[in-house]
Amino acid sequence: MQISGSTVLVTGASSGIGAALARRLASDGATVGIVARRQDRLAQVLADCQAASPQSRMWVADLSDVDGAEGVVLEAWDTFGHLDCLVNNAGVPMRRHTTKLDAETLDWVMRVNFTAPARMTMAVLPRMLERGSGMIVNVSSVAGRLGNANEAAYSASKFALCGWSEAIAVDLFDTGVKVRLVNPGPIDTEIWDLPDNDDPLVDVPKVSSEDMADAIVNAMEGDAFETYFPDMKAIIEMKTSDPDTFLQGMADMARAAHR
Ligand SMILES: NC(=O)c1ccc[n+]([C@@H]2O[C@H](COP(=O)([O-])OP(=O)(O)OC[C@H]3O[C@@H](n4cnc5c(N)ncnc54)[C@H](OP(=O)(O)O)[C@@H]3O)[C@@H](O)[C@H]2O)c1
Repeated sequence: MQISGSTVLVTGASSGIGAALARRLASDGATVGIVARRQDRLAQVLADCQAASPQSRMWVADLSDVDGAEGVVLEAWDTFGHLDCLVNNAGVPMRRHTTKLDAETLDWVMRVNFTAPARMTMAVLPRMLERGSGMIVNVSSVAGRLGNANEAAYSASKFALCGWSEAIAVDLFDTGVKVRLVNPGPIDTEIWDLPDNDDPLVDVPKVSSEDMADAIVNAMEGDAFETYFPDMKAIIEMKTSDPDTFLQGMADMARAAHR
């Protein structure tokens, strides 16, 4: 898709990847709608976006309320007249051992990371299909293609988003509505420091939100369904071809981290 002149709704744009993406899209000439819970942080990002793209708007919403999430995307469509693209980027981490998870936490992580993106897509899809064009960008994770130690709930929610993205890409193949799946590796954002999460098991090098935002823009402009950034595809291919060696390696790493 062409970014300049387009209208894009970005969820989770009060910090990290979503904030960097909103700023990049606005500076490239898109009208941007941004969504998150923290009004003050969202307002700062909106001010930056409006400097380049005055029609940009913000919606303060908790997307774990999935009925409300549907309302947000429809209101954004009505406000802008249409949406060329919905970027489902909002997400919560959950670094917690399987034995320490409870039902409420599992349900919350699934609602924010999977059900809200799916419900927002289902809400906006009839309108995109009627126009014969549109794009859904789902920001999943490398943890949506391999089971991460200490992150069962998070990995499950991101696997769900990957599976959903692949299946809807098939269903929508010839419709003019495109689907992009983006799987970030470690990116330097607040997600690593949020409360109610264990410390990460290992300290890994991280790339900037701005570089990640550039990769998402490349995905939106390009033709490929799936993007890994940084490119960790080889690890996924190794896991898929030899899951037993992968599980052994992950378990060894987790044991070493707990020592
Ligand atoms: N950073 C990484 O290493 C990494 C790696 C793989 C995948 N990802 C994915 O990248 C996406 C962006 O994460 P990030 O790294 O940029 O982290 P971040 O800085 O913590 O950003 C997360 C965004 O999601 C929003 N959000 C969280 N819960 C929400 C809710 N219930 N309703 C509405 N908005 C909500 C947050 O805003 P409020 O708190 O203001 O609501 C924030 O804007 C996530 O989907 C994450 O899973 C990140």
